[in-house]
Parts: sequence; structure tokens; C-alpha cells
Amino acid sequence: MTIYNTADINTWERFYRANFINSLTGFKSVSLIGTANNKGQNNLSVFSSMVHLGSNPPLIGYINRPLESSAHTFSNIEATGEYTINHIHSPFVHKAHQTSAKYSESISEFAEVGLTPEFLDGINAPFVKESKIKYALSLQEIIPIRLNNTFLVIGKVSRIIVEEDIVSDDGFIHLEKINSICSNGIDAYYNTDLINRFSYAKPGKPLQIIE
Ligand SMILES: Cc1cc2nc3c(=O)[nH]c(=O)nc-3n(C[C@H](O)[C@H](O)[C@H](O)COP(=O)(O)O)c2cc1C
Repeated sequence: MTIYNTADINTWERFYRANFINSLTGFKSVSLIGTANNKGQNNLSVFSSMVHLGSNPPLIGYINRPLESSAHTFSNIEATGEYTINHIHSPFVHKAHQTSAKYSESISEFAEVGLTPEFLDGINAPFVKESKIKYALSLQEIIPIRLNNTFLVIGKVSRIIVEEDIVSDDGFIHLEKINSICSNGIDAYYNTDLINRFSYAKPGKPLQIIE
């Protein structure tokens, strides 16, 4: 095993460090965030920092990079208070990755990469038609992180679209059945396999496998 310390990390070349530190936290969920500006111009970008904050109320956060490098999703959410999060599946992973390119604000990534915007009554942000599980959020809070000029953007789930045959009787969603992918670092994507679901862990009580 190799041990690295802060002095070592500080010597690393910019892209090497970005790849290394981005991979360190492990596999991440990765999704497409759909937004529209006040003129109805659609935007779609790939994000891998989504985090579950709580189920009641249903709150989900993501980290937005400093605005110099990642501005359109953030400004659309600030302006409209609405956005969608759409799972990615292996047949269109390359299209999802391409949305990370720096397109100008007047360009819709949907058209550029070949994905289809889909709208639901009462929600102005676009969903991704090709996505088999997707949800809309209403903006609740933006927390600036002064350490590195990033933002924690928190939304409340307001609408969910999901294929019903992947939801268990207890509410668990079998994401592996629709090949929802995950990511590592900033450029690698993976398929997933279920190992097991386990019963609620209690001291001294043997675990049961949930079928
Ligand atoms: C796999 C992957 C994950 C990413 N995750 C994030 C993220 O969590 N937060 C972020 O701000 N940018 C992330 N990005 C970068 C954005 O996709 C990129 O900056 C994009 O151009 C933002 O577009 P926008 O300006 O239209 O919002 C990620 C890129 C890739 C390829």
C-alpha cells in the first residue's frame, strides 16, 4: 500500500489531483438535471453530487461548482425555482456525458446530444423522456460553501415518474432492473448488480436477507 500525505497531494498536477480526489469517495449516483430559463430555453447537464437529505419532507441536495465553470443549471434554478433529476441508463451514457461540455446559454443540450425533452402539467422544467426514473424538485434553499465557492442546492421532491414494476411492496426501488448507472470520478460510468437487501440491523439480532 502507498501512503500519501498533504505535502504529496499538494505536488500533484491539477488533472491528476482532480481524478484522484474525485475517485476517492467511491461510486456515486449520476443523473441529468433538466432546467429552463424564464424565456423557456431548456438546459440539461450531468451531475454526480446528488445526496439524500431526508425523506419527510423529501429533500435532495446537490453541489454546484463555482459559477465560473458551471452556471446555467444554477441560474435557471435560482430564476425559476424548478428542476428535474433524471436517471441515466447505459444506452445513452455517452449522450449524458456530452452534456458536461460548455455550451452557450442559447444552446439546448437536449438537441445537441440527441435526448428528448418531456413536459408534465404544471412543471416548467424539462424531464428526459428516455429516463426510466425521474423526479421534479422545487428549490428550498441554497447554501454557499465559502471554503471553495461551491453551493449546496436543496430541493423538495414534488413529482415522481417511475416504471411501476421496479417498485417493491415496501417502497424500495430496484434501480438495477432498469440499468440505472453510477459513476466514479468525473469521466467513468458503471452498471450495477444487487448483492443483497438486509433486514434492519439490531445489536445481537441475526440479519435476514430480504427477497
Ligand atoms: C460525471 C460528471 C459529474 C459532474 N458532476 C457535477 C456536479 O456534481 N456539480 C457540478 O457543478 N458540476 C458537475 N459536473 C460538471 C457539469 O456537468 C458541467 O460543468 C456542465 O457544463 C454544467 O452545465 P451548465 O453550466 O449548463 O449548468 C459533472 C460533470 C461530469 C462529466
